[in-house]
Amino acid sequence: MIMNQPEIILIAALAASNRVMGKDGKLPWSIPADSQRFVNLIIGHAVIMGRKTWEYDLEKRPIHQCFNVVVSASTPEDEIAELQLQYSSNLLFVTSISEALQKVSHHPQAFIVGGASIYSQTLTLAHTWELTLVDGDFEGDTFFPEYEFLIGNQFEMVNLEPQPGFRYETYKRIL
Ligand SMILES: NC(=O)c1ccc[n+]([C@@H]2O[C@H](COP(=O)([O-])OP(=O)(O)OC[C@H]3O[C@@H](n4cnc5c(N)ncnc54)[C@H](OP(=O)(O)O)[C@@H]3O)[C@@H](O)[C@H]2O)c1
Repeated sequence: MIMNQPEIILIAALAASNRVMGKDGKLPWSIPADSQRFVNLIIGHAVIMGRKTWEYDLEKRPIHQCFNVVVSASTPEDEIAELQLQYSSNLLFVTSISEALQKVSHHPQAFIVGGASIYSQTLTLAHTWELTLVDGDFEGDTFFPEYEFLIGNQFEMVNLEPQPGFRYETYKRIL
């Protein structure tokens, strides 16, 4: 059977100075314009996230008008069954990244929405990175993976959009 290949888009916000992207299970900042852009980009599509992002980071679960795929090896089956009953077709738990990708194969676009562990496993697999680079110094406990070494050989910047206090950078895979 031939599987469709959705465009895999990794979307993340990180501190430009040190790649901090999370603190105590949450984002270290509040940038309403970036949150709005995030919603505009992902709406109607599949989103793939790690169990901790699902549990602690989201303001409202599941992400509205998206097909939510949560990667977890530890969530008990009865808990999953209860959640899936509650959110029906909007939510699916899977036990691996490859299963997550398989389950979104009928979607034209699938967004990897974090956290750090999921980003690090999908960084080179993604076709596109939508990064928000936040100015200033932030303390945190979760870091976006090192990615700079991939620029110029595996990924190239195709868009740069300065904003007050942050900037958007879009990268496309070239290999
Ligand atoms: N700045 C941003 O753009 C952004 C976006 C999203 C999240 N965040 C931040 O990131 C932080 C959370 O990131 P995190 O790295 O700690 O957690 P995470 O990636 O959200 O979730 C980690 C969990 O995902 C599951 N998992 C990961 N890889 C797996 C695999 N290959 N197979 C099966 N399960 C797998 C495991 O769940 P089990 O333990 O259940 O097995 C693991 O404990 C929070 O601070 C959040 O605010 C930031």
